[in-house]
Amino acid sequence: MTKFDLIIKGGRVATAADVFHCDIGIKDGRITALADNLDGADEVIDVAGATITPGGVDAHCHLDQPSMDGSVCADDFTSGTRSAAAGGTTTVIPFALQMRGLSLKEAVDDYHKRSDGKALVDYAFHLIVTDATPQVCGQELPALLQDGYSSFKIYMTYDDLKLDDGQILDVLAVARRHQGMVMIHAENSECITWLTDKLEQAGKLAPKYHATSRPGPVEREATHRAITLAELIDVPILIVHVSSEQAVQEIQRAQRRGLKIYGETCPQYLFLTEDDLDKPGFEGAKCICSPPPRDKENQQVIWDGLTNGTFQVVSSDHAPSRYNDPQGKMLQGTEASFRIVPNGIPGIETRLPLLFSEGVGKGRIDLQTFVALTASNAAKIYGLYPRKGTIAVGADADIVIWDDHRKVTITNDILHHNVDYTPYEGIEVTGWPRTVLSRGQVVVEDGEVKGKAGHGQFLPCDPPEKAAPLGRSVTDFQPA
Ligand code: URP
Ligand code: ZN
Ligand code: ZN
Repeated sequence: MTKFDLIIKGGRVATAADVFHCDIGIKDGRITALADNLDGADEVIDVAGATITPGGVDAHCHLDQPSMDGSVCADDFTSGTRSAAAGGTTTVIPFALQMRGLSLKEAVDDYHKRSDGKALVDYAFHLIVTDATPQVCGQELPALLQDGYSSFKIYMTYDDLKLDDGQILDVLAVARRHQGMVMIHAENSECITWLTDKLEQAGKLAPKYHATSRPGPVEREATHRAITLAELIDVPILIVHVSSEQAVQEIQRAQRRGLKIYGETCPQYLFLTEDDLDKPGFEGAKCICSPPPRDKENQQVIWDGLTNGTFQVVSSDHAPSRYNDPQGKMLQGTEASFRIVPNGIPGIETRLPLLFSEGVGKGRIDLQTFVALTASNAAKIYGLYPRKGTIAVGADADIVIWDDHRKVTITNDILHHNVDYTPYEGIEVTGWPRTVLSRGQVVVEDGEVKGKAGHGQFLPCDPPEKAAPLGRSVTDFQPA
């Protein structure tokens, strides 16, 4: 019997802490050696100095998620994880959504049915709590936390999903008692409804008014309130999909005060602006997501947040609705109000290449920060570390070998999702995943997807690693 199933030879290996040159030995799906001049394998991949990173952990994406507005999530676990793998992501964490009036347990059972045998890469579940009843908070959530569902998202907006402050406090209290991680969608619902009503009364229905209806202060107020509620309960939270300077300021202020507030942002806030909602005709609907992309100044603040400690995680928030489709963005036609357009944009495959090229390649972030933001920190926060999110002896052999210098123009026809557009159409990037391994299996080879549905396994999550050192924090940048 050989010592290794596979050796990856001669790579420039990056973790969240270091970049070093070594061979990687893999046996039974795990990394078993990191050293020079390894030999004794059934198979060797010689990568001749290529960059090697841990497979991405996409900790915020929506796959086969039921909707309440009649729209259909375009990607199921097969197309979504095929697209993820092609873009270098080897762990996804989508959401088991509790429909109001139903139990959380039912939502989880249903989501297992939707995912069993369908994924190409490994996956865990976040829960979405929409009905924080005494039964849910007293029994269901604690039991599910025990069973490996250790994170849950709550919404401060969307009529079908939102919780009021008292309900949020109830959920945060469960998280504190049972060591859960609460992800909060922070936008002020009343303000959005008021502004939307006014815009519609004035006949302002076009996609661009989606941004007008959800301005920065709407995000700031809710972010501030979410932090206040978390401070009252004394529990860490993570603010998802942060888009604006106002929200960044609230997060930084809280972090400086020593509160455990984590921040997540997404490529749409680094690469898109509100001008993308103002494309001819109905095209702007392609970029309707919440919070909306903002202006160039806000975009710069979000980029700065990747290195000043505001953000620990960059996720895709892949929320796939097809464009030219009555079950997608055109749910009620092209003259419909922005209010009715399904929210969310696709991006599970482009997340890593965009950040690798425009972040690392352009010198905005270093490679270690790239790994921290796209893999390690999410694995730590959601209780999957060190099995996922790093290259270390004992970790799953989830690995991306990069084609560092390959120039790729992003067009929808090269992507593997089931969506008929990408908001990043025409952007040229340098660097693309050449080979991707999931637990030692080649799932992408020379850019071609080889993985099979059913390889991906469900991952129960440990309680979040609350004290995990996640790298730089904004407090490191305080004057002495
Ligand atoms: O617009 C977005 N982000 N839609 C997806 C659902 C969510 O709120 O994350
Ligand atoms: Zn959200
Ligand atoms: Zn989302």
